[in-house]
Amino acid sequence: MNSIPVITIDGPTASGKGTIAQHVAEALGWHVLDSGALYRLAALACLRAQVDPADQQQVAKQASNLDVRFDSAGIWMQGQNVSNDIRQEAVGNLASRIAAQPPLREALLARQRVFRQAPGLVADGRDMGTIVFPEAPLKIFLDADAASRAQRRCKQLKEKGFSAKIDELIADMEARDARDRSRSHAPLRAASDAHTIDSSHMGVEETVKAVLDLWSKTSARHFGLS
Ligand code: CDP
Ligand code: CDP
Repeated sequence: MNSIPVITIDGPTASGKGTIAQHVAEALGWHVLDSGALYRLAALACLRAQVDPADQQQVAKQASNLDVRFDSAGIWMQGQNVSNDIRQEAVGNLASRIAAQPPLREALLARQRVFRQAPGLVADGRDMGTIVFPEAPLKIFLDADAASRAQRRCKQLKEKGFSAKIDELIADMEARDARDRSRSHAPLRAASDAHTIDSSHMGVEETVKAVLDLWSKTSARHFGLS
């Protein structure tokens, strides 16, 4: 069994998973996996290669052949920095649609597990605690109500210079969440042993502290580390 510890953070879109994962990983000196970025990279590769999104085998092939690199300067595909390209709405929507396909999820499974390296990993996504790292010692399900999430996303988009309308964001989020929750393969749900944190009224710092407090208790119980 792999003894390298993993903290999984799953939840709906814009609940703060990526931000909290980054801060927790920095605090612990651990690696981070933004699994959504892999689904977005697969979607971008399909768009660029003009693959029919309904052709599940071709979509999975794009994912298997992804030439990607994550480093401090960003996310690279075939030597090109695509950090901004993968955040486009069209890419996010396609990612959410193809993410329901079992061959694609299978193709990305091993790629995600490679990120589990010493001294530890914080992994965020939809199925980190249920499918990818089911034996993780600490699992978080990070939730927030749709209005708070839409406001956060709106602010985030405006800071990047994009225009955004709250009503449209709420509708888009609800559609994407419904798709993620209802798919038959690896649906978005809390693992039975996950701790749910509702961050609707919590700031980033408070949420990070809640996760780190849970990790202190978990590591003391599981490993006698603290
Ligand atoms: O940033 P946002 O929360 O909107 O999305 P993301 O985490 O970048 O993920 C993009 C899409 O990939 C999501 O809408 C999910 O459908 C899918 N995804 C997934 O199915 N499983 C994961 N572990 C991560 C993302
Ligand atoms: O990864 P995910 O789509 O779940 O969300 P994110 O991109 O990490 O967070 C969306 C935005 O919400 C970011 O600008 C965060 O700084 C902000 N946020 C917040 O205002 N309060 C929190 N408790 C968590 C995130």
